[in-house]
Amino acid sequence: MNKRKVQFLLNNTLISSEVNPSLPLLDFIRKEKHLTGTKEVCKEGDCGACTVLLGTLTKNSVVYKTITSCIYPIANCSGKHVVTIEGINKEDLLLQQEIFADENASQCGFCTPGFLMSVTCYLLNNTDYKIEDAINAVGGNICRCTGYHSIIRALNNIIYELKNNSSNDRVQLLVAKNVIPDYFKEIKERLSTIQSDKKVNTEKSSLFISGGSDLFVQKPDMLLEEEAQFLLEYDLSYIYQNYDTIIIGSGTTFEEIKQSPILSKVIPTIKNDIDLVASLPIRNSATIGGNLTNASPIGDLTIILMALNSELVLTDGINERIIKLSDFYLDYKKLIKTNDEYIKEVLIQVPKGELKFSFEKVSKRTYLDIASVNSAMLIEVDGNKIINIFISAGGVAPVPKLLKETNQYFIGKDISIDTIDSALAVMQTEISPISDVRGSAEYKKILLGQLVKAHFLKLFPQLINEKEIV
Ligand SMILES: Cc1cc2nc3c(=O)[nH]c(=O)nc-3n(C[C@H](O)[C@H](O)[C@H](O)COP(=O)(O)OP(=O)(O)OC[C@H]3O[C@@H](n4cnc5c(N)ncnc54)[C@H](O)[C@@H]3O)c2cc1C
Ligand code: FES
Ligand code: FES
Repeated sequence: MNKRKVQFLLNNTLISSEVNPSLPLLDFIRKEKHLTGTKEVCKEGDCGACTVLLGTLTKNSVVYKTITSCIYPIANCSGKHVVTIEGINKEDLLLQQEIFADENASQCGFCTPGFLMSVTCYLLNNTDYKIEDAINAVGGNICRCTGYHSIIRALNNIIYELKNNSSNDRVQLLVAKNVIPDYFKEIKERLSTIQSDKKVNTEKSSLFISGGSDLFVQKPDMLLEEEAQFLLEYDLSYIYQNYDTIIIGSGTTFEEIKQSPILSKVIPTIKNDIDLVASLPIRNSATIGGNLTNASPIGDLTIILMALNSELVLTDGINERIIKLSDFYLDYKKLIKTNDEYIKEVLIQVPKGELKFSFEKVSKRTYLDIASVNSAMLIEVDGNKIINIFISAGGVAPVPKLLKETNQYFIGKDISIDTIDSALAVMQTEISPISDVRGSAEYKKILLGQLVKAHFLKLFPQLINEKEIV
């Protein structure tokens, strides 16, 4: 396996190393740099013990996000600022460390570096601190000892200490408040020098890696043996609108989808919907290209994008073609794309009429869990009459499914519980769930019916009586 030169800032030090580009960042940090403050526990992105910050230079500032370094390829750190717990430590305790200690928010201490990195990132990224947002920011960090109340108390106290401190320069303020060390002030300047030296790898391989959040859980050892194309190097993280089309680069992360003002016009509930998907550090690395190609029958973003009647731009680097997302899946994990093709973009036609959107997901836990069954619906109505409708469903077939026959049945009918019941009879003929750890086939059939009813109840409460749907 070829090594490649990767350049980035690790804390206050410039790294310029020949490394295997598929090496998980955590292994580099702990085994090669002996920075053992970042812990390794699950190695599957689930616990947050390995959380570090990744700072990216944008036009005006350095934007930090948390990632789980155990499943993040080092190639994706090129030109960035990687911050471990050693990179924020000072001789004396920082404000957030002192408050964690005072509130007994650390007991065995194994989870604590991960929590502190998530808290620090939250403080760096926001100006208007709210306890709900701070809790959301540590949502990917698991603690076995504290019972969480002491951590929540600590978060409240940190916010209290930093509230009402207006400053145009967040970094300056947080340095002054003893939240981050002084060297953060020079990072923007230092990253701009590294950025200009950045080279894109032009390796021709049919193994594509984006955020790595699926691949590094499934087959980390194999990745170390094979050449790969790191798609994030192709600058595919963008969302913009061109006349009636929304264009989303395949490297766009779940969190960027959640924060997009363009998409929130089509899906007003997008922030709440995407909060049901994974934890913040995973949402910061998982991309839509990976979610679509991963071809999981319950991929949440896939189900959402399918109900938006999306199209995909596939490319082999030279030629491009456009296909409908609903035609992308042939069978379980079998795709219509060739081995050399990757998803470059997702295209969504901006709905013209009065449209409404709903996403529903049922899992064993509300947050931080994958779906047993999920579904999304985009619907256009004229009064009570359904003009157009796209319902997608996950977990009820070997592939994520657009319910084409059910959708066809709905068109032209008035919304009523009778219409829905008749459509659900059609729906049962086009799904084929299997029994597994997430529920029996029978349960999933009933569940999807309830989710479709929930879409209508949510969007048309004046037309559906809640008592009729249970
Ligand atoms: C802790 C945890 C929680 C999770 N929770 C959820 C959840 O709630 N809901 C959910 O839907 N998923 C969840 N996932 C799954 C995962 O995050 C997604 O499938 C993710 O979208 C994969 O994206 P990625 O960029 O990380 O893909 P990668 O791991 O880089 O790649 C995944 C697959 O897609 C291919 N690929 C990547 N990008 C492209 C492209 N542009 N074109 C062609 N092929 C490509 C790769 O070759 C690989 O086969 C979770 C994962 C973890 C680890
Ligand atoms: S070690 Fe658990 S998320 Fe990385
Ligand atoms: S303090 Fe022990 S796991 Fe959190």
